[in-house]
Amino acid sequence: MDSENKEEKIYPLGYEPKITPKSEDPTVRNQLLDFILKSGPTEVVDTDLFAVMSKRRSTRKFSDKPVETTKIDKIIAAADTAPTAGNFQGFEIFYVKSPEKKKLLVDACNKQPYVNAPVVLAFCKNPSRVKFDFPDYVLKKFAIQDATLAAGYSQLAAQALGLSSIWIGMFDEQKVMDVLGTDLVPSSLLCIGYPEQTKFPKPRRNLKDLVHVTW
Ligand SMILES: Cc1cc2nc3c(=O)[nH]c(=O)nc-3n(C[C@H](O)[C@H](O)[C@H](O)COP(=O)(O)O)c2cc1C
Repeated sequence: MDSENKEEKIYPLGYEPKITPKSEDPTVRNQLLDFILKSGPTEVVDTDLFAVMSKRRSTRKFSDKPVETTKIDKIIAAADTAPTAGNFQGFEIFYVKSPEKKKLLVDACNKQPYVNAPVVLAFCKNPSRVKFDFPDYVLKKFAIQDATLAAGYSQLAAQALGLSSIWIGMFDEQKVMDVLGTDLVPSSLLCIGYPEQTKFPKPRRNLKDLVHVTW
């Protein structure tokens, strides 16, 4: 028996399979991902995608109510359902749990206090995963799109689960990298929690002013 088959798999707490599959089922793209997405108790508040989109509103005041682990798992798994350039998944997620590191992130993010939120996810670009034979700048462009889209999926998932979030784009990249202990450049931070109060969505410009129909 080769050492590859003997390699011990590590699963997140609560997701250890009852029977270890001999080989991955080719019809399932990622067993753990599918398991988390379908797992309960879900207590999904909204399953209507358009209702989720239309109700989302940035929140900068979170209640102290802790976010359930099953919800955090789903938010992270949702990121992994996003499309990525060439399916190379040119991004990484840092799930910041340490209260000390969250405080350091507040400082790294222009002293925005709400960065110290119940759940803090940092989405970083990883262009080295994008194995296209394209110039470096293209790979970087793909990685920023991968990371951004993934964060967007997580943000909508959080909303669907009855949570609120704030997208953080204003930060000192190097300071965030130092806190995370990585040489990968962050693209955004997503701070999530239960909102202190539910607010109405913000207005947008007229849709017909936004769209430029081009023949
Ligand atoms: C690219 C980007 C960067 C942002 N950076 C910050 C930020 O650093 N701090 C902050 O408080 N909000 C930030 N936001 C949140 C926006 O202010 C917010 O999404 C916007 O006002 C619209 O409000 P809504 O999300 O409730 O629709 C950012 C949003 C985006 C998309």
